[in-house]
Amino acid sequence: MPEAQKKMPIPWLKYDVGHSPQMHLDVFSSVTGTGMVFAHWRFMCSQAFLFNVMRASISLFAALEREKERTTDVECGRTGAAYADVRQTSTPESYAGRSRNRVHIARLFALETFIRCCESGAYDASPPSQDQKRTMKVLITGASGLLGSALLREASKQGTTSVAAYNSRPLHGGLQMDITQHEQVRAAINDVAPDYVIHAAAFTNVDACEVEPRRAWDINALGTKHVVDACNEQSVKVVYISTDFVFDGENGPYSEDHPTHPINVYGESKLAGERFTLAHSGNAVARVCVLYGPDHPNFVTWVIDSLRANAPINVVNDQYNTPTYVGNCARALLRMCELGLTGVYHVSGREQVNRYDFACAIADVFGLNEKLINTTTTDTLRQRARRPMNSSLSVEKAERALKMRLANVREGLTLLRDEWR
Ligand SMILES: NC(=O)c1ccc[n+]([C@@H]2O[C@H](COP(=O)([O-])OP(=O)(O)OC[C@H]3O[C@@H](n4cnc5c(N)ncnc54)[C@H](OP(=O)(O)O)[C@@H]3O)[C@@H](O)[C@H]2O)c1
Repeated sequence: MPEAQKKMPIPWLKYDVGHSPQMHLDVFSSVTGTGMVFAHWRFMCSQAFLFNVMRASISLFAALEREKERTTDVECGRTGAAYADVRQTSTPESYAGRSRNRVHIARLFALETFIRCCESGAYDASPPSQDQKRTMKVLITGASGLLGSALLREASKQGTTSVAAYNSRPLHGGLQMDITQHEQVRAAINDVAPDYVIHAAAFTNVDACEVEPRRAWDINALGTKHVVDACNEQSVKVVYISTDFVFDGENGPYSEDHPTHPINVYGESKLAGERFTLAHSGNAVARVCVLYGPDHPNFVTWVIDSLRANAPINVVNDQYNTPTYVGNCARALLRMCELGLTGVYHVSGREQVNRYDFACAIADVFGLNEKLINTTTTDTLRQRARRPMNSSLSVEKAERALKMRLANVREGLTLLRDEWR
């Protein structure tokens, strides 16, 4: 059992945000100071309990700001005043060099980031309603992939019934379904009778799609048609996972109503999948961008593995996008189903970044040697498929509809780091 949880006194379960600032201060001190501790509790204690602690912490911040003149003799009070200054003027990193309180400031910054995430839903601060739990059954295609496995995890956390469909990599308790086989898909949808299909299965290797355009079309376009047609016959709704690569990258960040213009086979085949999906009015398209997560190889795991092995890496500094942490994205996708959203939504990370800066952020969050990361440019890589230079997605529409803030770069990486431990 982690140290933080062992220290937890039971009376906290009845903790009331109406207590005095000093009481809040005591609470805050006993939780060892960093917001990230809360992230671990998230997996170990009841949501209600966690939420109480968060509310107490929010009150603490408010109290510290109100009382900052009078609490200067309290260490945390001094930090509160300095922290208010940081929030207005700079980042905690740039402030740290000037401040004696830098550890506390970093902790407060982490805590506030975490609380904001909780409030917005990037962390799950509120349990799903009993109705949602009871009624929704989701079939997840591509469940053996990076996003699909996160969807399974998130569904199980929320108490949503999920059925995992895979193709070549069997999953225990899952359902084999090759989406290129129409009859197989029809039979599976008929048998499972889900309320929703989250269709994440795809041929995702962008360069391989240039070499095998027929396969890209069969899986990404026709395979999707098979899924949506079978769902339509059974009145099952579909959320189709699409990509930022439906854009040419000339005018990013893109909103949902921006005209599409793919510049490679992968993007063309995924766009065709979107069109088949949207031919039925109850369906939705969720575009995501540079997915990363803990248990399937991806850009982030490559950077981490390379830096841990002390291997220098070259990363392009001229491609911009909005990287997407799969845990946060999975939660948003399930919420799309709960809310019955239709049409197109961008459900990526909320912050645009170039790959080099993203790699540096990974090194920073994971405590790795940033000096091993060298910059390069896209033209030196000679990749087979053309890449959009700025395919960043604007997530405002999704955040509004979902009433949920999607993670920025640092929040997403921090969530990943905490989940990975
Ligand atoms: N990864 C990214 O950075 C990224 C960026 C933008 C959009 N997307 C989109 O996000 C979705 C999920 O991507 P991902 O990275 O999680 O994918 P992934 O890890 O590459 O996994 C692909 C999944 O598709 C399944 N699949 C492939 N061919 C199939 C077929 N013929 N029939 C049934 N299933 C099949 C695979 O099943 P088996 O492994 O069992 O064969 C696997 O579960 C995709 O729609 C992708 O286009 C991804």
